[in-house]
Amino acid sequence: MRLLIIGDIVGRPGKHACSQIVPRLVGERGIDCVIANAENAAAGSGLTPQMFSKLRHYGIDVCTMGDHIYRRREVLPLLTSSDRIVRPANLPPEATGLEVAVVTARNGLPVAVLSLLGRTFMNVRADCPFHAADRVLGQLDHGVRTIVVDMHAEVTSEKVALGWYLDGRVSAVVGTHTHVQTADERVLPRGTAYITDLGMTGPYDSVLGRDKDAVVKSLVTGVPHPYNVATDDARLCGAIIEIDEQTGQARRIERINIPDPQPVPPGGEE
Ligand SMILES: [Fe+2]
Ligand SMILES: [Fe+2]
Repeated sequence: MRLLIIGDIVGRPGKHACSQIVPRLVGERGIDCVIANAENAAAGSGLTPQMFSKLRHYGIDVCTMGDHIYRRREVLPLLTSSDRIVRPANLPPEATGLEVAVVTARNGLPVAVLSLLGRTFMNVRADCPFHAADRVLGQLDHGVRTIVVDMHAEVTSEKVALGWYLDGRVSAVVGTHTHVQTADERVLPRGTAYITDLGMTGPYDSVLGRDKDAVVKSLVTGVPHPYNVATDDARLCGAIIEIDEQTGQARRIERINIPDPQPVPPGGEE
């Protein structure tokens, strides 16, 4: 089982990079399932049903979200009607959306995807991600061997700790949210592939995807300037993970950072 997991897709440049790169990677690398963090797809914050359809059309099978999940209200009906998008599992039980998605990969085998929020330096009050992981994993059918956890968190220590906590119980723990890819990918001793952050899929001529001049000006002057999504140097970042489908253990993890071969056509913010 080969998975492509894509880090935070930011705005039009991020979606464009997906449109150009995902279909090629799926074909060339024999990818069985594509998972992407889409919480920044709508002009840098949130997701709309139209954008979700586009991402599905590019070959993305399951979307995870994060602290920006409810930023666009239009996403609410999608969160209840689609079984291919998950909310963080450690939000309150009343929060709209699924705690885990189980989809059938291209090779006919099930893949479970769940997402968790970190609690340090995050603006959302979430429950303990460790206990939420235990609860959701305890409810999963034993026939589901391939399990992916997106740990959406600011601090590296929380992510590393969750990787060790789930080692041997899930196929992969991948970090998102910081938009900066880390070079610490490895397979932990009990077979869980791990990376602290997959990195951003979006414009790198920027500060974390936003117009770099506006961010610098805001920080230097103390006067807020609108943080529009940047446009140039779009790249797709993430990882390709190979999993033993009998045991669910990861065999290898490869970090990827691929420039969009085509410039993003001019257009609106979305
Ligand atoms: Fe986030
Ligand atoms: Fe993000």
